Amino acid sequence: MIVYLNGEFLPLAEAKIPVLDRGFIFGDGIYEVIPVYDGQLFRIQEHLQRLENSLAKIQLINPYTRADWLRFMNVLIERNGGGSQTIYLQVTRGVEKRQHHFPDSVTPTVLMTSSPFSAPVKVTQGYTAITRPDIRWLRCDIKSTALLGNVLLRQEAIANDAKETILIRDGYLTEGAATNVFIVIKGVVMTPPKTNFILHGITRDVLIEFLQRAGIPCQETPVSESQLRTADEIWLTSTSLEVAPVTRLDNKPVGSGQVGAVWSHAWDVFQTFKQ
Ligand code: PDD
Repeated sequence: MIVYLNGEFLPLAEAKIPVLDRGFIFGDGIYEVIPVYDGQLFRIQEHLQRLENSLAKIQLINPYTRADWLRFMNVLIERNGGGSQTIYLQVTRGVEKRQHHFPDSVTPTVLMTSSPFSAPVKVTQGYTAITRPDIRWLRCDIKSTALLGNVLLRQEAIANDAKETILIRDGYLTEGAATNVFIVIKGVVMTPPKTNFILHGITRDVLIEFLQRAGIPCQETPVSESQLRTADEIWLTSTSLEVAPVTRLDNKPVGSGQVGAVWSHAWDVFQTFKQ
């Protein structure tokens, strides 16, 4: 695997970051995960916009123009053989002696990696999820590399033989440990609005757009815990899952316990329009 590090393309084993990098010491950095379908970056302008937003929110100057990012990513894709890949990129505040406040002048560290991506296939059985209180901080809109809360929450899912942990804050659904969440009640699709309590997922936005194009309206509205627990369908969205059905929540069936008809339609719509 070839990676991009601070202006160079290198084999993974040769890419080295100093131990005082603030990403390593403080989790002081942000990241993006971008799917590549058949050599083409998916919704790249939206991902670059979210990257710019995350950088601005942590007061880190974007080291590159959009044209630079595109050029570097396309070389990385090519150097890793084209086809379908997942690009991971992160920008940290760089290397300085350990002190909490921002250093006066420091060069950000930019890393990009590529891994093989196989787009998901349409499942016939849904996934299992558990719920937990959302123990994370109040800036979940920043795509921060400091993911300890998400890591602990996702690990609870794995420890309970579940795919995802769905999070509840003050009686309302926020999102999953690494996914956004949609529900369907009596044919109406709902997902929590874009606030500081959730990551503004690109797949979430794309799905809402595709549903609207297909004439399936989706409301961006607060979803209470009781609505979540009585929903006919629950879906997860993310770059790697696209849109996936949850058919068991906390060991109880969701709706009929089978994958939902609205999900099946939404899946088909997503596959049609993502081309
Ligand atoms: N995670 N919410 C959280 C907390 C996430 O970490 C992610 C993505 C999403 C979905 O965002 P998107 O649709 O843009 O992938 C929602 C990525 C994939 C990760 O951390 O690997």
